[in-house]
Amino acid sequence: MNFKIAVFPGDGIGPEVVREGTELLSRVAKLYDFNVEYEQGLVGGASIDAHGKPLTDSILKLAKQSDAVLLGAMGGPKWDSLDYSIRPERALLALRQELGLFANLRPVKLFSALASASTLKREVVEGTDLLVVRELTGGIYFGQPKGVTKLPDGTERGVNTEVYTTPEIERIAKVGFDAARRRRNKVTSVDKANVLEATELWRKVVTRVHKDGGYGDVALDHMLVDNCAMQLIRDPKQFDVMITTNMFGDILSDEAAMLTGSIGMLPSASLGGKVGMYEPVHGTAPDIAGKDMANPLATVLTVALMLRHSLDQGKAADRIEKAVEDVLNEGYRTADIKDRGCKLIGCKEMGKRVREKIG
Ligand SMILES: NC(=O)c1ccc[n+]([C@@H]2O[C@H](COP(=O)([O-])OP(=O)(O)OC[C@H]3O[C@@H](n4cnc5c(N)ncnc54)[C@H](O)[C@@H]3O)[C@@H](O)[C@H]2O)c1
Repeated sequence: MNFKIAVFPGDGIGPEVVREGTELLSRVAKLYDFNVEYEQGLVGGASIDAHGKPLTDSILKLAKQSDAVLLGAMGGPKWDSLDYSIRPERALLALRQELGLFANLRPVKLFSALASASTLKREVVEGTDLLVVRELTGGIYFGQPKGVTKLPDGTERGVNTEVYTTPEIERIAKVGFDAARRRRNKVTSVDKANVLEATELWRKVVTRVHKDGGYGDVALDHMLVDNCAMQLIRDPKQFDVMITTNMFGDILSDEAAMLTGSIGMLPSASLGGKVGMYEPVHGTAPDIAGKDMANPLATVLTVALMLRHSLDQGKAADRIEKAVEDVLNEGYRTADIKDRGCKLIGCKEMGKRVREKIG
């Protein structure tokens, strides 16, 4: 089997962490008897510097022709003064749109060795293992009308519109139910159905997909978003898969991320079209870029997601997650997750130690 992976390291710590990701992928490929072929490309600030825009047609073509895309992160102070329309982050939005990636999966798993890195008590966070499935291409971030208009009295009026259609809700619900089947068979759908009509429809459609879609083996409950925000820090272990709208998912997934202690531990996958895109949740971390201080584990775990969701190599994914756990249990830490008595190491060494555990 041969897989073509488009690799877009991006800016800041992107190239450092992505290097560890691809080296690891090559190692597991050898072990599990498949072949990976990488095609690297410039995106974000690196592409602006080389081509004057954050995403070129040839990069887009490369992404569309691959089996999966591995992305680092884009942006940084160097490009902050550019017009919004050509900022590095535009490349991310364009890639999501062009690849039809409507579902963002963010697993939030606390490795027991890191329980003390969380700001919450060990007994609350220990055992947390949940998956946020966020709708990515609809809702209030894209709904029309939107904008700011001047009123006759000289004041202004800002408008955004929460919009969801039946097919948009059906497809994200199915992603959530299918994901739950590979986990602990429980879905919590998060909405604000008591106030927002668009999410009243959300609840109705999710309930119907559950009933008519043959998902009787998956338990479904509904939760209002304000309660969910509380429950996440009160008792995160109650959640398995959470499905929610674009804006609620944006906020709740960041809240859930903090349960694990560091953004440097969090992987993500964007799915929906033929090609999935995989990226660590963090940004380009300009404050530590080029210093061999970045935590590569978010990217390492992102590679595991790619193996599971795009390359059908679940065993290799399990092996990576186990290797990460083993390295953490041995006390090795990058600076963002350092703890008393730990062995402080850099990005390269963390990558190497995980590879060694793989065998
Ligand atoms: N997906 C993306 O490409 C993406 C996402 C978020 C931010 N950004 C961009 O990244 C730049 C910096 O943004 P920010 O500072 O708000 O967020 P950030 O995630 O880059 O950094 C936030 C903090 O977390 C630390 N951090 C992040 N990743 C880490 C890692 N792997 N290991 C250790 N520490 C890590 C950083 O050092 C920093 O202190 C901005 O230009 C922003 O637009 C890009």
